[in-house]
Amino acid sequence: MKQIEHLTPRQIVAELDKYIIGQDDAKRAVAIAIRNRWRRLNLDAEIAEEVAPKNIIMAGPTGVGKTEIARRLAALVGAPFVKVEATKFTEVGYVGRDVESMIRDLVERAIQMVHSEQAQVFEEQAAQAAIERILDSLLPKPFSPPSSTIDTQQAESVQQAQERYERTRSKLREQLAAEGLEDRQIEITVEEKSASIPIFSNVGMDQMEPEMQNFLEKMMPSKSARRKVTVAQARQTLHHHELEKLIDREKMIETAIERTEQAGIVFLDEIDKVCGGESVGPDVSREGVQRDLLPMVEGSAINTRHGMVRTDHILFIAAGAFSRNKPADLMPELQGRFPIRVKLKDLDQEQFRRILTEPKNSLTCQQQALLATEGIKIKFTDDGIVAMAKKAFEINDAQQNIGARRLYAVMEKVLEQISFDAPDGEKKYIINQEYVNEHLSRSTDDEDLNIFGFAAGVVRKDEQSDK
Ligand SMILES: Nc1ncnc2c1ncn2[C@@H]1O[C@H](COP(=O)(O)OP(=O)(O)OP(=O)(O)O)[C@@H](O)[C@H]1O
Ligand SMILES: [Mg+2]
Repeated sequence: MKQIEHLTPRQIVAELDKYIIGQDDAKRAVAIAIRNRWRRLNLDAEIAEEVAPKNIIMAGPTGVGKTEIARRLAALVGAPFVKVEATKFTEVGYVGRDVESMIRDLVERAIQMVHSEQAQVFEEQAAQAAIERILDSLLPKPFSPPSSTIDTQQAESVQQAQERYERTRSKLREQLAAEGLEDRQIEITVEEKSASIPIFSNVGMDQMEPEMQNFLEKMMPSKSARRKVTVAQARQTLHHHELEKLIDREKMIETAIERTEQAGIVFLDEIDKVCGGESVGPDVSREGVQRDLLPMVEGSAINTRHGMVRTDHILFIAAGAFSRNKPADLMPELQGRFPIRVKLKDLDQEQFRRILTEPKNSLTCQQQALLATEGIKIKFTDDGIVAMAKKAFEINDAQQNIGARRLYAVMEKVLEQISFDAPDGEKKYIINQEYVNEHLSRSTDDEDLNIFGFAAGVVRKDEQSDK
């Protein structure tokens, strides 16, 4: 939450503008919701307790930026964030993930965040400690008998040995710093936990009771193992071990839970799919999922393996296409917890054109970078970009409207030949209107460009991660 105090709603929108074209209402709504949590944190505890988060429902057709907004937002505010599909959940008692698992995921995410912040703090210290341990193993300490048992002459030679030892050690330290000993073999001792629990391998930690998980982890024997490794490997391993020693785990978890409760954001995608409506067939578990979601959104305590987590102030952003139903078809109680509704609009051709070029790392930048790895330069002319936007728009219109995702299909088709010929073939291409039209018309009919057509649910790689 450190960055957020500098982010006013206006600035949040300005940041989102760098990636998302149009959809101003949605950007404003999320910006206000985010700022409100920061405002709440600056209130007296008594009143802060009372302020409920302004949960949001984003409704709008497929491929117009709902998920994209949430994803960028999370990165921007540095808050713990999870994206889950409501359709993944089933009513308690049915097979599938229970809704509480999203809060457990959120805590894990927060722990990762706090951990990597702590790792940064102790980075230098851990690196130093790792070096000392490597030195210990390169050069064992000289034997020094207790001073009461030796005479002055022996004491002197012990003293000399000690000094020699210190000199050699500091020489070695210099060599290590210059990475002169990286391939040298040494022996190090590390604590290891056996990683897997074979008997439970088909259950998955996720579905296990939190207490059970903790219990199993404690049960797993941790043994110290001596291993022969190169200095380079030792550096990595020991750095990691020293870091874990320096980080106060209990404190870290405490901070992470606090951050989850105060700043966590859950993005509930596909909410329309667990909501009734006319042409959506009856499904017992749909209502059930909504009923399970309710306490979570209303505020309750969820049992996680790291302790109880209260959900009262977690921000929920729900999204759905609502093509066959509307937010009003959700359970009334649930609707009440999502006071902010924003509609995302269909994108027009001009917006398609901007999506191709304007966002940071836009589709055109990505393609240029990819082909540059093959030593191939491509340049898109303005009329080339317009031609792609136009084509994408027309196909959406004529066939199924899959929003900006159509641009991906069009782009692939336009660059297919270049992509196939690389790294042989030409080294430079100009993608202008003529080029675009020629390569798009080569495909026998538009069905070729409809690779996404039969599945509006086609997702990008990063979205698949939690599928
Ligand atoms: N307004 C936009 N500005 C920039 N890029 C966009 C915009 N809308 C969509 N895109 C691009 O299209 C892709 C798909 O959009 P997104 O995942 O946000 O769709 P969605 O609205 O969540 O649709 P669905 O309802 O199918 O989940 C994004 O990854 C992004 O690259
Ligand atoms: Mg989406």
